[in-house]
Amino acid sequence: MLKINGDLKERIAAAGQLHVLQYFDELDDAGQETLLSQLADIDWEALPELAEQYVLHRPETVIPEDLSPAEYYRLDDGDNFDLYSDADELGKELIASGKVCCLTVAGGQGTRLGFDAPKGTYPIGPVTDRSLFEYFAGSIRRLGKKYGVVIPWYIMTSPINRAATEKFFREKKFFGLAESDVFFFTQGTMPAFDLDGKLILSAKDSLALAPDGHGGTLLALRRSGALDKMVRDGSEYVSYFQVDNPLVDVISPRFAGLLALQKAEVGAIVLSKTGPFEKLGNFCVSNGRTQIIEYSDLPDVLAERRNDDGSLQFSAGSPAIHVFARSFIERLTAGNSLKLPWHRADKKIPFLNECGDTVTPDAPNGVKLESFIFDALPMAEKVVLLEGDRAKIFAPTKNISGVDSVESCRRMISERNASRLAAAGVIMPYNEDGVLDAVIEIDPALVADDEDAFEFAGEIGLCRILPGQKVVL
Ligand code: UD1
Repeated sequence: MLKINGDLKERIAAAGQLHVLQYFDELDDAGQETLLSQLADIDWEALPELAEQYVLHRPETVIPEDLSPAEYYRLDDGDNFDLYSDADELGKELIASGKVCCLTVAGGQGTRLGFDAPKGTYPIGPVTDRSLFEYFAGSIRRLGKKYGVVIPWYIMTSPINRAATEKFFREKKFFGLAESDVFFFTQGTMPAFDLDGKLILSAKDSLALAPDGHGGTLLALRRSGALDKMVRDGSEYVSYFQVDNPLVDVISPRFAGLLALQKAEVGAIVLSKTGPFEKLGNFCVSNGRTQIIEYSDLPDVLAERRNDDGSLQFSAGSPAIHVFARSFIERLTAGNSLKLPWHRADKKIPFLNECGDTVTPDAPNGVKLESFIFDALPMAEKVVLLEGDRAKIFAPTKNISGVDSVESCRRMISERNASRLAAAGVIMPYNEDGVLDAVIEIDPALVADDEDAFEFAGEIGLCRILPGQKVVL
């Protein structure tokens, strides 16, 4: 039988949460140890204020009066031709000198996809079912080969999916990457509250804990030793992307180069939104600082506000593709702490009923709190925003079918491959409506960009793809 440290018990009592110890005496040593280690991680002094602010009251996103749409570098802007050429050149130099590493946030729970395993293991390849992780790994391998460098890859998992993620990488032999070049780290968790502000027990020996949102990334980089490794490796820029987007350029030379040229602390890719309510964060400016307001938080009147020519005022959406200067992450987390605002999500959270059995409710019964990495943008002295080409870089896998789905993602992978090959002179089976009549998968370890596709098509002597063909190259 383990003993609860009296001090801890007092702190828990002062926070009004003694019920979490309700079953403590019934637990075996292992159960008591599990619960104690969870309890030891909680900032009990901060808890009452959190409950008050975010659970008992529903926090409203304050929209500043001076909020305006953010300016950004446009995709095909002739006026910036020289700037873009310089950025391309510098970006390539930075990659070739090993100054850019990759970071994937993969700690989310993929609930909308209804997929129980880590989302990165989802079989997304339109023909071969290769996983999301394999897309990123392949592209990183290809870039490393092309630029003659090792590109370290940081992968943030949560305590829930860390072991399964690592197991998958081991089974797949790290997709040909050196194990030492892949650095897994684990984000923090937050305990869930019931609607009265009490912490929820999901079992007698466990609080209901959930990943603390990708806002936890920056601090987790420091606490895990990832930042130290970046310093040792000479990584000065961190190319950040989400686990759900296999089309992403794992590193865009122009984007990294522009950030460095402009001496910005953070860069963000911008996409022109497909409509006022597309589920993308919105780039805005207030008080001279760039910020992203999440789609769910932007009031409808602002989302729908139009310019005289009918275009949306808030049209700049975020595909969650960033570059961070390492020095920015170091600066923000210097005191081993980082305060980002919390965002509330009402969820169905399994809980213990009066008989001590775990029950999953039918309706939301509690609150999870998450922080968002993009809330760090206003803390940057300078942010650079660059428009990206949606068809080339963004195919998020959020749902099974419909918008932003497995279906649309697979189709976009095929379409991007087709347009790259068509640009390289391969004849493609487009029907009279311009719709591709083929499914085309290319190994990402062979082709990472348009330039590669051109060389690749030449090397394999590919002339045409036939209607209805399913091709793996
Ligand atoms: C996200 C962005 C949205 C952006 C869109 C682009 C948020 C809150 N919103 O929406 O602004 O326009 O993507 O596709 O992120 N993750 C963790 N740990 C966590 C939570 C999430 O690592 O605790 C990771 C997920 O694994 C995923 C990414 O963060 O890679 C995004 O999470 P998700 O919940 O899917 O965000 P979206 O609502 O899709």
